[in-house]
This record gives sequence, structure tokens and C-alpha cells, in this order.
Amino acid sequence: MPPDLPQATLRVLLVEDDADDAELVRAELEDQLGACALHQVETRRDFEEALSGCGWDVIVSDVHLPGFSALEALYARDASGRDLPLVLLSGYIGEEAAAALIKAGAADFVAKSNLRSLPGVINRCLREAQVLRERAAAQAALAASEARYRGLVEMLPVAMLMVDRNGMIVLANAEAERLFDWPRAELVGRAARTLVPPELRDCLPPLWRAIHRDASTLRLGTGKTLMALRRDGALVPIEIALSPVDTADGPMALASVVDVSLRKRAEAEILSSREQLRELTAHLNRAKEEERAVIAREIHDELGGLLTGARIEVANMARELPPQRLDLVTAAGSVEALLDQALDITRRISRQLRPAILDYGIVAALDWQARDFSKRTGIGCQLDTDTEDVELEPERATAVFRIAQEALTNVARHAGASRVRFEFATGPGNAFTLRIADDGSGITGEDIAKSGSFGIRSMRERAQFLGGELAIGAAPGGGTEVELRVAAQRGGIAPALAGELWS
Ligand SMILES: Nc1ncnc2c1ncn2[C@@H]1O[C@H](COP(=O)(O)OP(=O)(O)O)[C@@H](O)[C@H]1O
Ligand SMILES: [Mg+2]
Repeated sequence: MPPDLPQATLRVLLVEDDADDAELVRAELEDQLGACALHQVETRRDFEEALSGCGWDVIVSDVHLPGFSALEALYARDASGRDLPLVLLSGYIGEEAAAALIKAGAADFVAKSNLRSLPGVINRCLREAQVLRERAAAQAALAASEARYRGLVEMLPVAMLMVDRNGMIVLANAEAERLFDWPRAELVGRAARTLVPPELRDCLPPLWRAIHRDASTLRLGTGKTLMALRRDGALVPIEIALSPVDTADGPMALASVVDVSLRKRAEAEILSSREQLRELTAHLNRAKEEERAVIAREIHDELGGLLTGARIEVANMARELPPQRLDLVTAAGSVEALLDQALDITRRISRQLRPAILDYGIVAALDWQARDFSKRTGIGCQLDTDTEDVELEPERATAVFRIAQEALTNVARHAGASRVRFEFATGPGNAFTLRIADDGSGITGEDIAKSGSFGIRSMRERAQFLGGELAIGAAPGGGTEVELRVAAQRGGIAPALAGELWS
């Protein structure tokens, strides 16, 4: 083993059986390179043992030894996994033998007659070995990073495609295979245009130019639905991000493609179930109004008729009573008063159930509503309007009436108000705005979203049925304001909508 020497000292493992030659080598190296550590071996065993220790810079080996050879040394070196340069040293060796040894991995050849060149050759071999080591390390690092990157791309739940300037796919990941339904071998080398429906193919070259000109990413399919074409001819809704990339093989386009069919389906289902819910609500509202109308009629016509009959009979009877029977006259008077009260109640109930006043138009009905509200609650309320009437189909008029009714009920129940501003204003065509503002306690966002409350929700449903907008918030002077805005309905649309929703 060589003695401990400074790191920069050259460490040479010398395979040589001739002690004089070994001394010559040492002298030449020390002469030209300064101090060096030289360890001489002449058998395979010693060579292998020396190799297993570390720290050698170079092997210098005689070609033929009595029990060992440079060729065997080369094999032993390779088997040990050390990539030390081995310089051959020989008295005489034929060209063919030298070439065979170089081919087997020797770095160079120095004739014993020309030992002076050995240090230079060793230095050159060391430099070359260093360059080779660095190159191998760089290649290994590159391969590792490429493996990591490929693994990452492969695992992405997004289809990745790299497309070259000729529009050919040069890279595709596992999700791309799944999405486009092509095996990888057929995806790579395929024209990207074949993954696009025919009517969109002409868009590809402009897209390529756009991303490379602006050096920016383009996102497509986030608004309007974009389709990809699968191998089986099926169309898949996708979202795609296209980015320009510069590679050693020239400019490329990197496409990341997301299959959005599940999301699109879920969106369609939500829309359809919302639509169904709207239809159901509209249907229930109509059924409710019809039922109310029937009950209102029964109460008004049947009960009201009976009570009116009874009232007339009692009045007739009272007239026939002898005036001296004051007790009976008084009793008849109170029965008449009770019957009048009962008649009032039946009228009020039937009006609330099915406001016959609606037959005189929405404005008349709202006016009655304001007066009735004021009378019942003592809260000041008067309709302020710029019109005598506005043209509305019965169902639409009922919807407006019910919105106002719910808003006023809320004022009475929740606001603690003393006045209500109740406005009905018309706009161009048959557009109108209904505004009910109180001066009460006001309303919060949580109030509006209360889970067990359905008043505001039913107002919104009715506003939607009217094709209008309902806003609920703070009134200008404090309190709560409910505003319904309905734009002009072009002829035919409203009845058609009503027909669709109410059938
Ligand atoms: N005019 C108002 N002033 C103050 N609070 C109100 C008013 N209108 C509604 N609210 C609040 O909004 C909530 C929800 O109203 P609504 O949906 O009609 O349900 P409900 O009247 O059955 O409680 C009410 O409980 C109340 O707290
Ligand atoms: Mg309510």
C-alpha cells in the first residue's frame, strides 16, 4: 500500500515483475511529476487486492508477466467496476496485439524504450478519463431528470400531447391514450388534426402561429364547448391549454387536454333538474290558485248566499215582532249584527283566497290590497301609481298580486313599521316595476337565506315566472325594500312561456 500522501499526489498501481523496470518508472515519474505513490504488484491476487483499496489514479501495466498479463488486468479492472485508465508498458509488442488491448479498454501504449513519454501519456489519459467521467455524470443526471419528467407526465390525469411544426404528435401520455382511444404507438407519429372534428381542422395552423407569435398559452373550451374526436368517431367535450415550447428538435406546441364530459353531464343534469323544479313550482302555484278560486267561490256563493238569506229572514222576522217585546227586538238586532259580521268575514276570506278584484286589473287589485292592509294593520299604506291599468294575462297578474301580498305580510309580521311606500310604475311597452318599502327594522342577508322560510323564495319563483328580477335589500330611509322589475314582454313570448310553465 502506498504511504499517506497529499491528495494531489499521483497514485499509480504498477503491474510489473521486473524490479529494475519498476525503479525506472518511479524515477521517470518523480523526475517529471514530483513525488508520487507507486505500488507494484505482479500477480492477479495482489492486483485485485490492491484494486479493492481505493485512491488509485492510474494503472500502468506490463503486457506480459510470468503469471499475469495486461489483458487479465483489464478484465479484473472492469470486474471491479473501477474506471481507472490503464496505460500499457512493454518492451516489444506487435501492432495487432496493441490494437486488441486498446480495444479491450487500455487507454494508451508506451514503449519501455521510450519511458520519458510515460508521465505525459498518464497526464493525458487522466484528463481524458476526467472528461469521460464528467460526461457520463451529466448523461446520468439528464437521464434521471428525463425519467422523472416522463414519470410525472405519464401520471398526470390530464392528456398531454407534444406536436411538432408539421402538426405531428411526437409525445403522448397514458391519459392521452385513454382520452383519444388510440394506442400510444399509433398516437405518436399521427397528425394532430385527426384528433379534431373536420370542421375545426383549419383552425390548427392559426393556433400554432398565435401561440408562437405571442409566446403565450391559449386556453380553449372554457366557454363554448370544444370537441375532440376519438378513434371510434365519438366526440368528447374537452378543455385545452396550448403552450409554445422550444426543444432541441425545434419549436413545438404542448397541449394539455382535459376530458370535461363528466362535468358537462353534471351541469346539464343540474340545469334540467332546476328546470323541472321550476315547472313543478309553477304547476303547484297554478293548482293552488285554482283550488283557492274554488274554495273562494264556495264560501262566497254558498256560504255567503246562506248568510244573506238568513239575514233577510231575520230582518223580516224582526219587523213582525211586537214592539213591546223589547227583549226579542234586541236579540233580533244582535243576530242581524252577528250575521253582518259573518258576511263581512266570508267576503274577506273569499277575497283573499281569490281576489275577484283582479278581474278589474292588477292596478285596482293592488289599490284594494293597500287599503285592506292599512285597515287591518293600522300601518299607513297607499298605492302610488302612474297608471290606471297595465295589460297582463291573469296568471301573470296573480303572480304580481301574490308577490305584493307576501311582501306586505312580511311587513306586518317582521318589520315593526309605521309606513309602507307602495309603488307600481310602468315603463316602455308593458314593462313595470313594483316597489314595496317599509320604514321598519330592516332585513339582513341571513334573514333572506333563512332555511325554513319560503315567503321570499316563493316571491323569487314568481318573479322568475314573470321573467323579471326581484331585489330585496335596505330601503333608502332604513327598513326593507322589495323591488320587482319586469321588462316589456314582446307579443307572444309571455303567453308561450306561460303555456309552457303552466301546462
Ligand atoms: N319587511 C321585512 N322587515 C324585516 N325583516 C323581514 C322583512 N321581510 C322579511 N324579513 C325577514 O326575512 C325572513 C324571511 O322571510 P320569508 O321568506 O317571507 O319567511 P317568513 O316570513 O316565513 O319568516 C323573515 O323571517 C324575516 O326575518
Ligand atoms: Mg313571509
